[in-house]
Amino acid sequence: MVQVSMLWMPLWAYLMIYGLIIFFFLELILAYSCINRVTLVKADKPIEFSSSSDDGKAEKFTLIDLISESVPEFKDGALSLFNPFLINGHAHTMFAGIRKFSRSDKLYFGREIVKFSDGGSASLDRIISYDSYKDVTLTEEDTPKGQTSNISQNTRYLTRSELSTQASNDTKPMIIALHGLSGSSAEAYVRCLFSRLHGQHEFECFVLNSRGCGQTRLSTPQLFNGYWTDDFRFALKHLHQLFPNRPIYAVGFSLGGSILANYLGQYGDDSLLKLGCVIANPWDLVHSSFCFENDFISSKLYSPIMTVPLKQLLITHFEQLKENPIFMEAYESGSYDKVYKLKDFDDYFTSKLFGFNCAAEYYRNGSSLNRIFNIRTPTLIINSLDDPIVGGSDIAVPIKETTLHPYLTLVSTSLGGHLGWFKWDNTRWYADPLSKLISEFHDKVGSKDNVEIVVEEKNLPLVNKVVNGRLVGPFI
Ligand SMILES: *[C@@H]1O[C@H](CO)[C@@H](O)[C@H](O)[C@H]1NC(C)=O
Ligand SMILES: *[C@@H]1O[C@H](CO)[C@@H](O)[C@H](O)[C@H]1NC(C)=O
Ligand SMILES: *[C@@H]1O[C@H](CO)[C@@H](O)[C@H](O)[C@H]1NC(C)=O
Repeated sequence: MVQVSMLWMPLWAYLMIYGLIIFFFLELILAYSCINRVTLVKADKPIEFSSSSDDGKAEKFTLIDLISESVPEFKDGALSLFNPFLINGHAHTMFAGIRKFSRSDKLYFGREIVKFSDGGSASLDRIISYDSYKDVTLTEEDTPKGQTSNISQNTRYLTRSELSTQASNDTKPMIIALHGLSGSSAEAYVRCLFSRLHGQHEFECFVLNSRGCGQTRLSTPQLFNGYWTDDFRFALKHLHQLFPNRPIYAVGFSLGGSILANYLGQYGDDSLLKLGCVIANPWDLVHSSFCFENDFISSKLYSPIMTVPLKQLLITHFEQLKENPIFMEAYESGSYDKVYKLKDFDDYFTSKLFGFNCAAEYYRNGSSLNRIFNIRTPTLIINSLDDPIVGGSDIAVPIKETTLHPYLTLVSTSLGGHLGWFKWDNTRWYADPLSKLISEFHDKVGSKDNVEIVVEEKNLPLVNKVVNGRLVGPFI
């Protein structure tokens, strides 16, 4: 009684105050959003995979069914706890830039130099075991002509005998990754996925390093861009020739996502892939560039930081690039010194080297959104709505397009930034579910001869079509 009489407020008032404190605390957590929420966008009339069995019954299912069955992390409304110190997309993006995670997901790569038909070359890195990495002593002969013998730790050239005996008729699943701007096979965002696909699901894993990237010397005075899909197509054909019975999957990150999506759109029914995974792709380069160069943090921080390795690339490969008169003209006019932002680099170099007049023209033509309706390969898209580089909002991400397109499925997240998505334990959120999904897809679809894709013609989006000699539908 004594205690109670000492309370200067009635009990309900205390309860209310405590209730309010708890309520504000919860609100604070949500506002600071260390909780990620998935919105799964489905096609209104998705393609179905139909597997015929001996007794004549066909089982039909969609990619969404696979997700509901085996990948709870990608279900609509799925919540996950992210690193509580990374309170928004900027924090995730910066953290991804600062932490290299060199000790986690340690992988070893064997490198093959692929020569393209225009004389250019790039490196195709594949995961090899630690034993195979360390037990082989390379001779000078094994360093391909024109390449440096000093490549990064964890990667070695494949020997001539390894290369000449690599072809196989086996039916193992095979995945190829395309990295982001000036990245390589060493990127943590690739390794986290590949260590699982290789380790747990026994995929053969490849990374195509873009020309000049991953300590590969150029053999022609030409670099890369997000619209240039020839090298990727060439690498796919190369792998398909070596391993004709292996189903091929692909995953593209950031600008590599643009290359993958552009490839899928350009080749439509002729794509060599079973499934495409397009992650953190700047679908609309005009929009991304606008957001990027106008936002305070992005323009002062990311844009200049991302331009540094690109400028470095020009210096590293100067000997080759100076053979290109277009490059030299830009270089000698002092453009190199004027390059400070990503758009400057694309204005003076990327666009010019690929026959565009300026960055804006390259962005308009090169945007993979232009080709999205031509995709005829099952495609999983992952974008974060707070990605400052893609242009973080729901207009930067093909939501409407996905609902109209039977081949697309979009996993959009409320938090994650650009290729961040750090969970509470600093592992990347997509690594587990995406490797599960790809491997489930392989088990149920990609590895099966008796599974076909069912889609009604009338449900397909319009694409360029010539009707009575006139071009109708959207232009590519
Ligand atoms: C190899 O590369 C590393 C770093 O890229 C450098 O520190 C080292 O001096 C190089 N070694 C040789 C022999 O060129
Ligand atoms: C794969 O099969 C083809 C045709 O049966 C054969 O010619 C070729 O030698 C085989 N390749 C390997 C590496 O076994
Ligand atoms: C840009 O796109 C248009 C329309 O598709 C095309 O005609 C033009 O050749 C493209 N430009 C370049 C440099 O590829």
